[in-house]
Amino acid sequence: MNGVSNQELSKLVDEKVEQLFPKLVDIRRHLHMNPELSNMEFETTKFINHQLKEFRITQIPADVKTGTAAEITGGVGPTVALRADIDALPILEKSNLPFRSKVDGVSHMCGHDVHTTIALGAAVVLQELRESLPGNVRVIFQPAEETEGGATSIIAAGLLNGVKSIIGLHNSPDIPTGTMGVKAGFLMASVDDFTITIKGKGGHAAQPERTIDPIVIGTAVVTQLQTIVSRTVPAKESAVISIGAFQAGATNNVIPDKAILKGTVRTSNEEVRQQIYETFKKIVTNTVTGLGGEVEIDYQFLIPAVVNDEKITKIVRSAATAVVGEENTLLPEPTMGGEDFSHYQKVVPSCFVWLGSRNEEKGIIHGLHHPKFMVDEEAIKIGVKWMVQSAFMLLQED
Ligand code: NI
Repeated sequence: MNGVSNQELSKLVDEKVEQLFPKLVDIRRHLHMNPELSNMEFETTKFINHQLKEFRITQIPADVKTGTAAEITGGVGPTVALRADIDALPILEKSNLPFRSKVDGVSHMCGHDVHTTIALGAAVVLQELRESLPGNVRVIFQPAEETEGGATSIIAAGLLNGVKSIIGLHNSPDIPTGTMGVKAGFLMASVDDFTITIKGKGGHAAQPERTIDPIVIGTAVVTQLQTIVSRTVPAKESAVISIGAFQAGATNNVIPDKAILKGTVRTSNEEVRQQIYETFKKIVTNTVTGLGGEVEIDYQFLIPAVVNDEKITKIVRSAATAVVGEENTLLPEPTMGGEDFSHYQKVVPSCFVWLGSRNEEKGIIHGLHHPKFMVDEEAIKIGVKWMVQSAFMLLQED
């Protein structure tokens, strides 16, 4: 690697990250105090661009409403990408931290402030080491991970063009600081949402025979939907169908003319995802029409499952063991939560990992999206080191 051994590189990276750490904490706390919701990250984008400029890192043109990207140009070689998400959540932070959110009802309760800081830190360190870098590293600051359109807007803007592989991380309050979770294959579920509108015929509750009761039809639909996972999906696969809303009627003695059901479908792969969709349509349509109602189904395919590439996972796992040691590189269980990083996985080989950020002594125990959620800032160092090491290793392969 242009004259730097792996051991020397580790040492150099460690030193640079230690030096940079106080600045990174300031950056993280600034972001934490000034959260912005998905697709509204205007000030966040400005702040990131300002930091890039301050560290003399080249910002590259990105045709996106919010979010930004940078590129570190090393020697002749391929380009790999690092991704961080930058948006916050509509949650009122319940903490007494001196740097708690200044925006009422908006906060970084998923730790994307930390992800942004890590990617900035990695950009700074890679910029300093660019003479030894056997290729280029693109750093992508993605908007709107929590809602919709973030990853797809980045892809549409061409920011993955020429990229050989992409990696990303998420903090995990489930595993301690000083550990990482790295797994090939299925890691996080696909997420699809649906709205079922059942049209019946309203009337007096005392004369149901003159009505077509959408509530009774709706309850049949809810029950039938439970059979999809239990009866049609192979037991070795993972899938969940949940109804989160059932809206119908307003009072005791009136049968309404309409019921609306809303829910979500999570699966572990594309095959199951497609199969559930087909079965879902059939069951809902037949149940509703069989009971005399009419139905409209709005089924939204949102994000694919996060399924990590074998080869990339092997490389970034080596980076993790170099940073936290073999014994602290854990094999996580898949979760049925979703992450739009999966959109990138449809375009280039990639891997998404968990960065341990739990610290019971510091009271950092609450889950993602909890109003008391926190991240152990020590994890920032590990995240930066992992990203830098991974970038080098990914550029060096083949
Ligand atoms: Ni998140």
